[in-house]
Amino acid sequence: MVEISTSDALASSPFLQALAGQKPSRTPVWFMRQAGRSLPEYLKVREGIGMLESCQNAELITEITLQPVRRYGVDAAIFFSDIVLPLKAVGVDLDIKPGVGPVIANPVRTLADVAAIPDLTPEHVTYITEAVQNLTGELAGINGGTPLIGFAGAPFTVASYLVEGGPSKEYAKTKAMMFGAPDVWDALMRKIAGISGAFLEVQVRAGASAVQLFDSWAGACTPADYERHVLPYSKDVLARVGELGVPRIHFGVNSAMLLPLMGSAGAEVVGVDWRTPLDWAIGQLGDGFGVQGNLDPALVFAPTEVMLEQAGKIIETGRTAKGHVFNLGHGVIPTTDPDQLARLTEFVQSYEPAEG
Ligand code: CP3
Repeated sequence: MVEISTSDALASSPFLQALAGQKPSRTPVWFMRQAGRSLPEYLKVREGIGMLESCQNAELITEITLQPVRRYGVDAAIFFSDIVLPLKAVGVDLDIKPGVGPVIANPVRTLADVAAIPDLTPEHVTYITEAVQNLTGELAGINGGTPLIGFAGAPFTVASYLVEGGPSKEYAKTKAMMFGAPDVWDALMRKIAGISGAFLEVQVRAGASAVQLFDSWAGACTPADYERHVLPYSKDVLARVGELGVPRIHFGVNSAMLLPLMGSAGAEVVGVDWRTPLDWAIGQLGDGFGVQGNLDPALVFAPTEVMLEQAGKIIETGRTAKGHVFNLGHGVIPTTDPDQLARLTEFVQSYEPAEG
């Protein structure tokens, strides 16, 4: 077992303290999709460069990851990439289409299709190692040390793109495989668990201080199906990172019914989507977990005082959990006004509790 050590500056980071279940002096904040189309500086550096191309360029990854940290002074950076990037890196023919999402040229249907996908090695993603190293160097000097979050897609969410061939509403082909071809499903989920685990391991070994596993579409499963067909593979991914000694966040959308099961997958902190009342989520998870979330990303379009009133309630509720990281309850909407996120960051970071 290899323990990855955290520098002294980072040890006092409110974000890492909250993940460790220690009570930081204030609630830390970052935003899912904080880098991206809501930022004019992002649109500028991305001009004429495809999404996947940007994700394979260490210099661009570094710049785009730092942009929201510079602008907002958020308490964590999240590595700029995508959940399908590791598939692209091992040779799967796919693209990320603007306004659509990941599109796969030859969807996976058979055991032979699964066997044709290579496992991921660090040599496939040398630009990731380079970008993480650059970033941790730069981030050490920002606001007394800002941690970097590494991330990967969880097996179910990545499998949904591979099997459907693109984004889906019903996940009919994915579920047809899950229920009708359990051997293919098992092989595919193992394959992706290996790839996502390796992708996280590369980021952690290069210096990421925490990881988030995105199972964005797991909420499409019933609890029983999640437990049987999804959870074991997510557990494997999280266990691999656990062995490296970094804290883990596990997030899904529309996941209210799955919270206790998602908690049992191994992460210290569970991300709560915006539909789920935070106090209810804390009750479901019990005392053993920190929580992350969960302001409705659309509230950023409301008058500032309405947004901040709701943010205050979330901070107060978060204080009753083992640890709380303030975030939106899903990603930043591309048309978001960055000035609203700047006000929200300022509000969370300077929030004074109503009572001691
Ligand atoms: O959070 C961050 O700031 C880090 C970057 C990040 C991206 N994708 C960049 C991106 C992260 C963490 C992701 C994860 C991701 N990608 C998820 C899980 C999180 C979630 O939103 O639930 C999923 C489901 C994907 C797949 C994907 N990639 C989608 C659905 C889309 C949006 C398609 C669109 O254009 O509306 C993408 C593309 C993508 N990934 C963009 C960004 C900034 C937009 C592409 C662009 O800027 O051209």
